[in-house]
Amino acid sequence: MYHEKGPTLRELAQQALSSTDRGYDLLAPKFDYTPFRTPDVLLERAAELVRERGGATARGLDLCCGTGAGLRAFRPLCTEAIVGIDRSEGMLAVARERLADAPGTARVELVRGDALETPFESGSFGLVTCFGAFGHILVEDEPRFVREVTRLLAPGGRFVFITGERPPAWAPELWVAKGFNAVMRVRNALLKPEFIMYYLTFLLPGARWLCEANGLEVEVISGAFPKPFARAKLVIAQKPATRRPL
Ligand SMILES: C[S@@+](CC[C@H](N)C(=O)[O-])C[C@H]1O[C@@H](n2cnc3c(N)ncnc32)[C@H](O)[C@@H]1O
Repeated sequence: MYHEKGPTLRELAQQALSSTDRGYDLLAPKFDYTPFRTPDVLLERAAELVRERGGATARGLDLCCGTGAGLRAFRPLCTEAIVGIDRSEGMLAVARERLADAPGTARVELVRGDALETPFESGSFGLVTCFGAFGHILVEDEPRFVREVTRLLAPGGRFVFITGERPPAWAPELWVAKGFNAVMRVRNALLKPEFIMYYLTFLLPGARWLCEANGLEVEVISGAFPKPFARAKLVIAQKPATRRPL
């Protein structure tokens, strides 16, 4: 599971003991060798499916962009600019390097900031993506997060993400995730600043309800990804295009 160029368990523990932002600053140089980076096979397939549905656009935004995995895959769908926002300067520095040879011609902009409260104008993106980062958004912040995404989308724009359903009660991964979450709750109760990272968040059907509650039209695509990701689902939530006045 772990790459030889990836972090040691000791380094991972040090990162988890710091804070979300400092932890990612420390992890950044080795992040692409961890299983936490969203694999290209998922992102490329997601981009293909979005393109097939007419999702190419002028301006795209990747929330919690990390080292730029999503930006690389979705840049060819954008004609003008693709923007990545992340709270970790260390992750953005690696993204800056790694995106130098990314396919596509859209301008790449990297911004340090919070996905829950972005500095961008309303309606300025035809595409908003977020991959591998929902664990960093507290469940109580999810409504605020989806409201912010909806605000950023232009009429007809799409919010694209990958999620799944809650594993069944007998599945070992459910209990591993619950155990991890329990440890993080104790860590965050005892140590400040917090390291926000919880599994089993922004799952279906809850993520769908939140998008629909904000007026987005949701398509959930099953069977889009190969093994071992066959249970992952691609969600495309589209803001209705404004009707032209009669
Ligand atoms: C697991 S990495 C995923 C990176 C990338 N999206 C990928 O799929 O490989 C999570 C990223 O989210 C960033 N992050 C966490 N909370 C954030 C927030 N509230 N706003 C912006 N970035 C955030 C972290 O700094 C980190 O770079």
